[in-house]
Amino acid sequence: MVFDGVDLRNGKDINEVCAGCHGEFGQGGKEGEYPRLAGLPPAFIARQLDLFRDRKRTNLAMVESVDHRQLPDADVLDVSAYLAAIEIPSKLPPVDETAPGFNAYERLLASKRVVQIPRAAGDVEAGKGLYRRECASCHGSQGEGDAKDAVPFLAGQYTSYLWRQVPKYIAKGRIHDPSAPEEPELLASFADTDLQNIFAYLSILDD
Ligand code: HEC
Ligand code: HEC
Repeated sequence: MVFDGVDLRNGKDINEVCAGCHGEFGQGGKEGEYPRLAGLPPAFIARQLDLFRDRKRTNLAMVESVDHRQLPDADVLDVSAYLAAIEIPSKLPPVDETAPGFNAYERLLASKRVVQIPRAAGDVEAGKGLYRRECASCHGSQGEGDAKDAVPFLAGQYTSYLWRQVPKYIAKGRIHDPSAPEEPELLASFADTDLQNIFAYLSILDD
C-alpha cells in the first residue's frame, strides 16, 4: 500500500462521517462498541476498510459508511493516514488550575481525547506470561502493535472490543494471520480464563 501523496485534509473531511461512531479524534466510543482507530497502523486501517467494502468482514454499521461508491480507494488511503496520525494520550498532563492563563474550556476539550482503558478483571501476572510467549512477537512487547507489518495495537484498545473479535477469528469471519489464512486460529487454542488474563494484562499497559 502506498501512502505517498495522501491528502490529510480530505482524510479529515471524510472522518466527519466516521466521527459519528468512532469519535472526533478516532478515540472510539460506547466503551468499545466502536473501536478506537487513532494511532492504528495506516495499512491496517486501510486493509480493514477494504475488507468491509468487499463484505469480507461483515458489520452492518460499517458497511453502510464504506461502500465503494462512497469511499473510493484514494479516500481509503486518505482517511487511514489521517486516523493513523492522531495521537491519543492515556492521561491528561497535570496542570495548575490556579495558574494565570489556565483555560477550563481547552482543558475540557483536551480531556475528550484521552483514552484510558479501565482495568479488566483477571490475573495480570499470568496474562503477562502468556502474552509475552504467544502474542508479543507480533503485537509488540508493550502491546503497541507494529506499523511496518500492519499489526494493530492491543494495549489502548477497548477490552470489550478485543473480546468481540475472538469468536470472529475462531469462526474465520476474520483472518488473524493474513500471511497464513489456512492455519488453525491461534485464539482457539486458549481457554477463556487465559484470554481473560491476557486482556487484563493488556488493560494495564496504557496506565
Ligand atoms: C454507524 C457507526 C459507524 C460508522 C459511521 C463508522 N464505523 Fe467503523 N466501525 C463501527 C463498528 C460497530 C465497528 C466494529 C465492528 C466489529 O465489531 O467487528 C467498526 C470498526 C471499524 C474498523 C476496524 C477497527 C479494528 O481495530 O479492527 C475500522 C478500521 C473502522 N471501523 C473505520 C471506520 C472509518 C474510516 C469510518 C468512516 C469512513 C467508519 N469506520 C465509520 C461503526 C461505524
Ligand atoms: C503471527 C502474528 C500474530 C500473533 C502471534 C498474534 N496476533 Fe493478533 N493480530 C495479528 C494481525 C496481523 C492482526 C490483524 C488481522 C486482521 O486483519 O484482522 C491481529 C489482530 C488481533 C486482534 C483484533 C484487533 C483489532 O483491532 O481488530 C486481537 C483481539 C488479537 N489480534 C489478539 C491476539 C492475541 C490475544 C494474541 C496472543 C494470544 C495474538 N493476537 C497473537 C497478528 C498476530
